[in-house]
Amino acid sequence: MPDYNSSIELLHKFIKNENLIKHCYAVESAMRFYAERLNEDCEIWAVTGLLHDLDWEMYPDTHPNTSVPVLEENGYEKFVIDAILGHAYPERTNVPRETLLAKYLFACDEITGFIMAYSLMKPGGLNEVETKSVKKKMKDKAFARNVNREDILKGAEEINIDLDVHITNVISAMKNDKRVNR
Ligand SMILES: [Fe+2]
Ligand SMILES: [Fe+2]
Repeated sequence: MPDYNSSIELLHKFIKNENLIKHCYAVESAMRFYAERLNEDCEIWAVTGLLHDLDWEMYPDTHPNTSVPVLEENGYEKFVIDAILGHAYPERTNVPRETLLAKYLFACDEITGFIMAYSLMKPGGLNEVETKSVKKKMKDKAFARNVNREDILKGAEEINIDLDVHITNVISAMKNDKRVNR
C-alpha cells in the first residue's frame, strides 16, 4: 500500500482548493489522534482520513465512488477503500461501516467541518474554540447549514464516545496540527 508521502502527492494531484485540503488534514489529524489512542496503525488511519474526499473537488456528483478506481490503481487496500465508501450517504455507495476505521472516519468527518467553520468566526481561530460553545452553536440551524447535525450525533454514537468527549478530542487534534491551526 502507498505510504503517507505518496498519499500526500496523490491528494495534491486531485485537490487544489486550499479549504478542502485543510479539511482533509483536519480529518487526518483526528484519525491520528484516535489511532494512537486505540493502538491502531497510525499511518493507515492518517491516510484514510487524508484521502477520504479525494474526488470531491473534481467529481462532486459521484463522490466518493469516483475515487475507487484511482485508489485501486494506486494499490490501496480494500478495507481502506471500503472505509472511504462508508463515509458517504448509503444511497450513494451502500457500503456499511463495519470496521473501526470506517466508523471513526465517519465520526471525524462532519464534526471537523463544523469545528473549522466555527473557528473562522473567532479572531483567535481554533485556539479559541471550546466544546461547550461548539455544542451551543450546533443548535443554531442557520449556521454551517451544509454540516449535517444528525451525522455528527450518529458518528459519535457509532464509536461509542460521548459527544462532548468526542468534540474535545477532535478540537485538540486539530489544534495540535499546524497545517490545520494556522
Ligand atoms: Fe466526503
Ligand atoms: Fe469530508
